Amino acid sequence: MRLFRCYVNYFLRPKDEVIVPQFSFLMYRIYSKIVGAKVIFAKEKNYKISISEIIKKVTKKTKIVFLANPNNPTGTYLTEIELIELRKKLRKDILLVVDDAYAEYMKNNDYKSGLDLFKKKENVFILRTFSKIYGLSSLRIGWGYGSKKIIKSLNIIKPPFNVNEVAQKAAVESLKDNKFISRSISHNIFYAKKIKNFLKNYQINSNKISANFLLLDFSKCRIKAKYFYEKLKNKGIILRSTEDGYKIKNMLRLTVGSKTDNIKFMKAAESIFKR
Ligand SMILES: Cc1ncc(COP(=O)(O)O)c(C=O)c1O
Repeated sequence: MRLFRCYVNYFLRPKDEVIVPQFSFLMYRIYSKIVGAKVIFAKEKNYKISISEIIKKVTKKTKIVFLANPNNPTGTYLTEIELIELRKKLRKDILLVVDDAYAEYMKNNDYKSGLDLFKKKENVFILRTFSKIYGLSSLRIGWGYGSKKIIKSLNIIKPPFNVNEVAQKAAVESLKDNKFISRSISHNIFYAKKIKNFLKNYQINSNKISANFLLLDFSKCRIKAKYFYEKLKNKGIILRSTEDGYKIKNMLRLTVGSKTDNIKFMKAAESIFKR
């Protein structure tokens, strides 16, 4: 995200317009606003990015379209075909920023990461992070992939104080640890399925499995998301409220944890519903 901020500083001027999907990861709007750009929200359909709604919002002033694929907190994603379609429908001089933060988790057949799809595109910039599957979030390290022109400009404005060496070394080592990565992917799919099915018993529905979290929908459940959140919090388990910031009502985001965490969560949920 630091790279992203750098990028926004370089690329955006006050009054430029950026388009972000309605429920997209919050930092895009925050960083864009800091540089005085106008943030335009594109409506979503069933918590999924809508290509036609993005295209509707394009004006002469549009500079960037930001999206995370899959998106946090909705867990929905644009398929390979849809992402290509979006790029085709956008004006050539509008930059598409694809945040691939959760790409490594994605085993869905209709999905392709931004990096896989747009390596040769001058008008796409890809964001990647070591904070998710690699588990190095406290080291604050990520990377970006874009045209030589963009990378050159980023290097001009980048401060000399680089990502620290420990973080760089850990990141390089983590890329070699294929065993850890494949174990994490299997663990995630196994527990995401287990928790998703478990919660269905209580009429809590969630998105099709994608990244390492689920968006829990309480609209059919006999208790409210807020109540569930508070009860879990009292038991030392914190889910992400989607009300503040995202303005998504009666839902919660649950991140798949370790085996112990997941079992603890399911036991706690059972006891809340028993009452
Ligand atoms: C979509 C998305 N992008 C980026 C980030 C943050 O990445 P980093 O830790 O590299 O700043 C997050 C973290 O929650 C995220 O959900």
